[in-house]
Amino acid sequence: MHFAELAERCISRCRIIAGFSETSGITRTFLSDPMHACHRAFSGWMEELGMQVRVDAIGNLRGLYGGGRNRRRLLMGSHLDTVPGAGAYDGVLGVCIALAVIDAVRTMDLPFDIEVLAFSEEEGVRFRTPFLGSLAAIGRFDPALLNLQDSNGRTIRDAIMHFGLDPARLGEAQIDGRAFAYLEFHIEQGPVLEDARERIAAVEAIAGQSRLELTFKGRASHAGTTPMHLRRDALSAAAEWITHVERSARDTDGLVATVGRLQVVPGTGNVVPGEVRAGLDVRHSCDEIRIPAVSEICSAAEQIASRRGLTVAIDETLNQSAVTMDEHLLKLMERAILRTTGVARRITSGAGHDAMIMAEKVPSAMMFIRSIGGISHHPDESVYLEDVEEAIRAGALFLSDLAEQGKRTA
Ligand code: GLV
Ligand code: MN
Ligand code: MN
Repeated sequence: MHFAELAERCISRCRIIAGFSETSGITRTFLSDPMHACHRAFSGWMEELGMQVRVDAIGNLRGLYGGGRNRRRLLMGSHLDTVPGAGAYDGVLGVCIALAVIDAVRTMDLPFDIEVLAFSEEEGVRFRTPFLGSLAAIGRFDPALLNLQDSNGRTIRDAIMHFGLDPARLGEAQIDGRAFAYLEFHIEQGPVLEDARERIAAVEAIAGQSRLELTFKGRASHAGTTPMHLRRDALSAAAEWITHVERSARDTDGLVATVGRLQVVPGTGNVVPGEVRAGLDVRHSCDEIRIPAVSEICSAAEQIASRRGLTVAIDETLNQSAVTMDEHLLKLMERAILRTTGVARRITSGAGHDAMIMAEKVPSAMMFIRSIGGISHHPDESVYLEDVEEAIRAGALFLSDLAEQGKRTA
């Protein structure tokens, strides 16, 4: 099959997967019911390539190409979950391109097997903590996480069992010493490539991120009878703090900080809010800037709460260091991109990716595909067919170079 046809098929597959959603738009959270249909579709496409398919205990769909004939194993992957109201390409495109690249190198004699990992969870939506799929794959899934609850009071353990999986078998999700590299394709999700009029790029580093949950506690009271000076309004405190978060990030070069989730209790118009839970996300490519910034933002929350007669509880759910991609694989990828497009660009990722988790265990590389308008985490997220074609072409070259090196060192 031609690269153009493979690219067309990738895009139409992303559109098919977009139809498996919890809502009328695109929302597919960790082990939600539509994930079954998503797995069925991908399993079929993997089997067409002759892959052996299984679902591990955290719900990662895994396809093995090469039948385990070789001792070494190249991993390729991305995630199948989405944010609420997502586009069709974040995560899913990477899995589709991985399959297209395998299709493109089918006639090659590879000195390694390929395992595709379609991760069950990367976004951190349902249980407010991300990377559940890749953490299990590298053996860093903390069993205490099994007790985390979603907004309906269901735990991760319940979700795993409800999906038909066995939490006691989480250890079997781990990759082993056969894995020698991890490769991820992903939509850029930002405007840099579009601005540079380039189609694809090699990722050199991924920004670190912190996620925290803050609970401001004041006192709920009657909105009509409680004079302003006698209130302990949790939402007003949270609002003051949120503007502080924005100011802090604006004042620190390269820092981004977001309060994207607020839960107001009791959450009705005629009651002074007694409690607010807020989700905070802070990122920077340099951990030495991010970590002190998080401390400063937390101290500000404590000061604002205490000045207003409230308390604030702070729970850090993620402190993920910035990660650089493997230099040798990065050079190999740049070379493949240069030969495909005539230009080789390195780019830093502000978004988090499964590659930043996998890189802890196995040398990792990523390729970005230009986003149209830089739009992502939005229904309008899109890619150009020609860019996907270039990504598959460069991906196939990357694999063929890797195979050549493998043969030389075998
Ligand atoms: C994933 O998309 C993230 O960076 O939040
Ligand atoms: Mn995302
Ligand atoms: Mn993603």
